[in-house]
Amino acid sequence: MNQYNFRANSTSRHLSRICCCVLILVTLIPLPSSAEDIVRPERAPVDIAESHSGIVVSDTDIASQIGADILAQGGNAVDAAVAVAFALAVTWPEAGNISGGGFMMVAPPNEEVVCVEYRETAPACVDEHSFEKWQERHHARMAGVPGTLRGLELAHKKYGSLPWDQLVKHSIRIAREGIVVDEYLAYSLNRVLTLSSIKNEKRFAEFRRLYGKAIGELWQTGDLFKQPDLANTLEIIAEHGADAFYTGSIAKKIVAEMEEQGGLITAEDLKNYKANIRPAVSGQVNGYTLYGAYPPSSGGITVLLQMRMAEAVGLEVDPDNYWNVDQVHLLAEISKRAFRDRAAYLADPDFSSIPEFMFSNQYAQKQAEKISRNQATSSIEVAGEIPISNLPEESLETTHFSIIDRNGMAVSNTYTLEGTFGCRIAPKGTGFVLNNEMGDFNWIPGYTNQQGRIGTKPNLMSPGKRMLSSQSPMIVKNDGGVALVIGSPGGRTIINTVTEILVQTLLFERPLSEAIDGPRFHHQWFPDEIKFESDDQEQLTRLTRSLIDRGHTISRPKGWLQGSAHGIEYDPASGIAIGVADWRRGGKAVAVPQKVQSNDKPVTPVTNDSQ
Ligand code: DON
Repeated sequence: MNQYNFRANSTSRHLSRICCCVLILVTLIPLPSSAEDIVRPERAPVDIAESHSGIVVSDTDIASQIGADILAQGGNAVDAAVAVAFALAVTWPEAGNISGGGFMMVAPPNEEVVCVEYRETAPACVDEHSFEKWQERHHARMAGVPGTLRGLELAHKKYGSLPWDQLVKHSIRIAREGIVVDEYLAYSLNRVLTLSSIKNEKRFAEFRRLYGKAIGELWQTGDLFKQPDLANTLEIIAEHGADAFYTGSIAKKIVAEMEEQGGLITAEDLKNYKANIRPAVSGQVNGYTLYGAYPPSSGGITVLLQMRMAEAVGLEVDPDNYWNVDQVHLLAEISKRAFRDRAAYLADPDFSSIPEFMFSNQYAQKQAEKISRNQATSSIEVAGEIPISNLPEESLETTHFSIIDRNGMAVSNTYTLEGTFGCRIAPKGTGFVLNNEMGDFNWIPGYTNQQGRIGTKPNLMSPGKRMLSSQSPMIVKNDGGVALVIGSPGGRTIINTVTEILVQTLLFERPLSEAIDGPRFHHQWFPDEIKFESDDQEQLTRLTRSLIDRGHTISRPKGWLQGSAHGIEYDPASGIAIGVADWRRGGKAVAVPQKVQSNDKPVTPVTNDSQ
């Protein structure tokens, strides 16, 4: 008698039936079963590295290490940036991508800082009313024509020094062999896999196949996560370049998925996509020159406007009290004016012209003069001629990395899929999900509401147009060269995260590590409220009463953290760079080990320790 061929009496048959049912239930019901039950990793210190030979700071240790290895092999900051962008697509798939878009600030030594702009575009079939009645954020229709690969290709052609395939090969390996899941990746994957739409809907079957574990199981720290389809796609890209994605075999798969799932992108849209090199938006603040992304990102102009206003209102340094009530009040007042102007004037510059005054210091001064030091102005009043609707409406991932090489060449890159895992639709067999960037257009012409929906004209949808972004990768120079590299994810909060770090470092002379570690707050014009990070118990919450007394509304959404800012401070005279990775998503700063040359002085120790 073999082990499967037994005779059972009725009691044991009954028992075995119960056991079977329990087993089936345990396998089918994932625990925990909802996204809210997934526990965020414990807060860790910011991660700090110091080196003379280059540093890479990104959201994952593997991507930062791959970038540092490229620098150690003699690659420059742009080579490393291309390799890190591919590595994040494997190691941080909720935001790292080859199918979204972004902005790469490049500061080559002794040359102008430029912005490699690779923002997505609207497919050719849309007009400004196409999304008026649309509600769904996770649908193929939300995908804009991706820009990432054309952007990386352009940056590499203009500035790269190592062969393209050398920059992709590490990512092919880690995708094929798998990466060990850490607590942040487990959190990121499990949070989405436990959403009922992802668990149940047919259109997310490919998503489940790519990112799911076994049925009913959640990812655990230490698991091996393999992405063979993505490895195959990256192999094609290593061999054939970006063309494979825009006109070759990958394009065919994207278009087929669009046709099956009601998406808008056609083969022609993909073929027509071009990345641009645009000038940096630049200006002086407190003796530093700031360089930010040019529209279609609102980031460069808005951060600069805020910084100029911050300098003009004279924010007082209070070393014992970051932040104090005057600083938070004034920065909130600055933000609501800057975000109002963002809505009024900023969009794709190839479709609407940006008023000259938005680039000027005089305008910032004039705006700053309107701010009361003691009393909040309501957002409605700040709106001016923009009509604000009272009607309620029936019924928003990105990642930043900063790099400096041994010659002081710097890259500040933010790129995104927009929402976590974009639209969550993966063209079958490609191993990646598409962005849902169409959500960054103004959907309803003329409809701006107090909840934060914007309907101003410049950013309405049009064929081939780039949607307005808030991505704010920045490079700051002083007389000697690059002084700071910074950026963050976080939608509209990006602008305030970056401004708050620049205020602390450039105006208050606070070390970058403290500026990144400290609490953040956000005001975006509408809703008319200052949003505090929930993680901080004391430094911000103690200001609540005084801010309410000045006319502000305060919100503190449970579990909400603002951005994940990764930066580098650099001293061109000594060549020492200090990289700081944010704790909020467990980022990692990796230093390039210093080579010992026969004629070198004793080597300064290189550290890569957590603080
Ligand atoms: O380009 C933008 O402004 C947005 N799509 C960025 C979205 C984002 O940062 C979400 N991440 N946390």
